[in-house]
Amino acid sequence: MKDLTPARDTLDPIEIASLDEIRALQLQRLRWSLKHAYDNVPMYRQRFDAAGVHPDDLTDLSDLSKFPFTYKNDLRDNYPFGLFAVPQDQILRLHASSGTTGKPTVVGYTRTDIDNWAHLVARSMRASGTRPGDTVQVAYGYGLFTGGLGAHYGAEKLNCTVVPVSGGMTERQVMLIQDFRPSTIMVTPSYMLNILEQFHAAGIDPRDTSLEVGIFGAEPWTNAMRAEVEEAFDMHAVDIYGLSEIMGPGVANECVETKDGLHIWEDHFFPEIIDPETGEVLPDGEMGELVFTTLTKEGLPMIRYRTRDLTRLLPGTARSMRRMEKITGRSDDMIILRGVNVFPTQVEELVLATPDLAPYFQIELTRDGRMDAMTVHVEAAASEDARQALSGVLAKKIRDTIGVGATVSVGTPGSVERSQGKARRVIDNRPKG
Ligand code: DLL
Repeated sequence: MKDLTPARDTLDPIEIASLDEIRALQLQRLRWSLKHAYDNVPMYRQRFDAAGVHPDDLTDLSDLSKFPFTYKNDLRDNYPFGLFAVPQDQILRLHASSGTTGKPTVVGYTRTDIDNWAHLVARSMRASGTRPGDTVQVAYGYGLFTGGLGAHYGAEKLNCTVVPVSGGMTERQVMLIQDFRPSTIMVTPSYMLNILEQFHAAGIDPRDTSLEVGIFGAEPWTNAMRAEVEEAFDMHAVDIYGLSEIMGPGVANECVETKDGLHIWEDHFFPEIIDPETGEVLPDGEMGELVFTTLTKEGLPMIRYRTRDLTRLLPGTARSMRRMEKITGRSDDMIILRGVNVFPTQVEELVLATPDLAPYFQIELTRDGRMDAMTVHVEAAASEDARQALSGVLAKKIRDTIGVGATVSVGTPGSVERSQGKARRVIDNRPKG
């Protein structure tokens, strides 16, 4: 793989500024953001008043912990535009996340927000190893989802040639990679595996493509998956993180030269890690729930937004800003099986560490009497006997490593659902209620 480390003089100066400088900028912006929210969004005014705090009370970054949290339900309760902090005619774009039940959560951007977003995605892409003039295939879905358009504007901002193919139509993805010769693909890691399979089906060696960088996000993925994809495509696989409520893709990104977790673009977002039970702020290095406060967002300021994503904060390396470790999972996706917490990412690691198993998996939950049961569906191109044996191998690994008993069903190739975007890792077939 090529060394794609960006030249130091191409970085934004703040990426490599001193911590003092970054903290000073954050304090100034945080004061603005709290005041903007308080002055323009009735919910924030009520919440701050009820908690007995005022934006003027913030004299140090640590004072943020006195302010109340914001939850996904607050967006639903104020559907569609109740949390917007600017008049409607200043909103240039809306996005929405589907959500599994009820109304979607709607987010809105001013022109400045859109510009900042494009700038941060461009910064993320540069950190990933993409250079101006490169061709970029955007295979995140376009539409209300922030992935496609977010990546698109960032790629244009970096002066790349964008191929806005969106998700799906996997044969065409392969054809365009062959014909347009992109250096970069932006796509969910699970859909990248689907594209990989299509390369094999077409009899094309994926290591021979023009691809040098994959910028993968929108769902949790492990370092084991990174190794799998890097080996299969002979390309760098870099992690991009974001969520629509805070902006979209490009809140944090790995650097291609270190791949040691995601640098949070702290000049625009202030991160905290809290204990999800007590809400108490935890020191850097401790695992907990990630909480974000936007520092520059005009259309939809978010104060202490509970992401439900679990990770920890680490000091900067390739950049001055702090890193977050690869996301372990969402607290909502955590499976509690006979008292043991299980994350799909733990299963992913074990599947990928089992030779002869294909890299696809899905977890099914059922109830057996009063006990929950977990079946892991995987697949292998092997005889029935060999698949039976593989089932035993993976079940043992799950028992030894995660500490729970699971049934492993090893099907034939193609038996596990393929992802077109965000993979559905858990199917809950337990009776409701
Ligand atoms: O998924 C934004 C995005 C698009 C990020 C493309 C990266 C690339 P939402 O649909 O609002 O936004 O979903 C946000 O997805 O809270 C995480 O649970 C999860 N997620 C996003 N990126 C990562 C990642 C987009 N790199 C939710 N690793 C977040 C793990 C991720 N989980």
